[in-house]
Amino acid sequence: MSVNQPQNQPLKIAIAGLGTVGAGTVKVLAANGAAIAARCGRPISIVAVSARDKTKDRGLSLGHVAWFDDAAEMASKANADVIVELIGGAEGMARKCVEAALARKLHVVTANKALLAHHGVALAKTAEAAGVSLNFEAAVAGGIPIIKALREGLAGNTVWRLTGILNGTCNYILSTMRASGREFADVLKEAQDLGYAEADPAFDIDGVDAAHKLAILTSVAFGTEVDIKSVHIEGIRSVSSLDIQYAEEFGYRIKLIGLAERDAKTGGVIQRVYPCLIKPEAPLAGVEGVFNAVVAEGDFVGKSVYEGRGAGAGPTASAVVADIMDIAAGRRVPTFGVPASELKILPSVPLDQHVGEYYVRLLVTDRPGVFADIAGIFRDEGVSMESVLQRGRTQNANVNVVIITHKTQELNLKKALKRLQANAALMEPPHMMRIENLD
Ligand code: NAP
Ligand code: HSE
Repeated sequence: MSVNQPQNQPLKIAIAGLGTVGAGTVKVLAANGAAIAARCGRPISIVAVSARDKTKDRGLSLGHVAWFDDAAEMASKANADVIVELIGGAEGMARKCVEAALARKLHVVTANKALLAHHGVALAKTAEAAGVSLNFEAAVAGGIPIIKALREGLAGNTVWRLTGILNGTCNYILSTMRASGREFADVLKEAQDLGYAEADPAFDIDGVDAAHKLAILTSVAFGTEVDIKSVHIEGIRSVSSLDIQYAEEFGYRIKLIGLAERDAKTGGVIQRVYPCLIKPEAPLAGVEGVFNAVVAEGDFVGKSVYEGRGAGAGPTASAVVADIMDIAAGRRVPTFGVPASELKILPSVPLDQHVGEYYVRLLVTDRPGVFADIAGIFRDEGVSMESVLQRGRTQNANVNVVIITHKTQELNLKKALKRLQANAALMEPPHMMRIENLD
């Protein structure tokens, strides 16, 4: 870490994007300006801003600040030390803006996990060659300082596993569905209104946003290149309130979990995002609403748990401002903890090799022999059933059969489910979720 002497001159920042996070950042700087200046040794001054619509009322007083319609032009021309990119998206204006800033050797602060997941290593190399910071605390888990915790606080450990609730929108939806019995679409709309969801909420509910964050965390924790393509991703669209109820009956909660692990056998890395069943006593099970949490397991620290608000204006802006303050105070570390050119490339471990217990729900016609067919297919593929529940016919004489398996290899279960799908008694594709032991 290089620590420059704090200067008395204000740190000049230009903010691209004045939506939920951008406007939140302006508000934090206005509300806590004096304390922030005292902590980093100099004031922080907003000299320029950019967004699409200059006429929009954002509830901000920015009269003295230069306005740019074009954020990349702002990054190329503004008289700033730092460009704060809060537009979003892996490509387009956000990328142009960050690249223009780094080309001028300006520091960059961003909350953009999509950009970092896809171009983080290249951008980090450019920033490090230019001797400037590329700070992204807000990109992962909103207000939780998890990047700093992994990159600095746990730097003396070999972290072997990370698990987390990394998407506030999904966690809000799943916990609200569980608490209220309300339907998915209704709760998603509420999360959007609260400013938690991405511009395209498919990124949230399909698990992509959590995957971006997991890929970034994996890089910081394991010293590997960000490898978004190797993350196995499943979202929560197909999780119904029925699954939530059945999971409860079997003693589990359903959460969208991101999991990254070093695989001792192969020397590879496992990265997965999917809804799964966890025991209520697991640290992540009690994390509700828009809260995120990360559990880091290291060789000397053991298990450490970090929890806080993962989305929304205030928490995210809190992390953006902390990144700006590091630059103001002259604190700089390599972007992903080790120099970008030294990040390792490790093989990924295919999910078919996963061994664990599974939850399976099958909607079948309720007639003699159907259960025997299911049991026969499971037997043939070497999948052993631990518990089975069948209750209540629907009006169409269909019935849900819910099975918890013993530990089995995923490939075997997939073969069984494929064969079941060809069975005429099955009224819809099987619903399958993994059971994770995260106690
Ligand atoms: P948002 O509310 O949609 O705001 C986006 C802002 O970017 C708006 O001010 C918009 O201008 C501006 N913009 C869009 N296209 C532009 C362009 N071509 N040129 C200049 N400005 C442009 O998004 P957000 O929720 O604040 O998210 C911003 C970033 O933070 C994203 O990377 C997101 O993933 C990340 N993030 C968000 C949260 C959260 O809770 N919302 C949490 C963590 C990280 P107009 O206002 O004029 O339309
Ligand atoms: N859409 C994201 C979420 C915002 O719901 O977690 C925070 O990154």
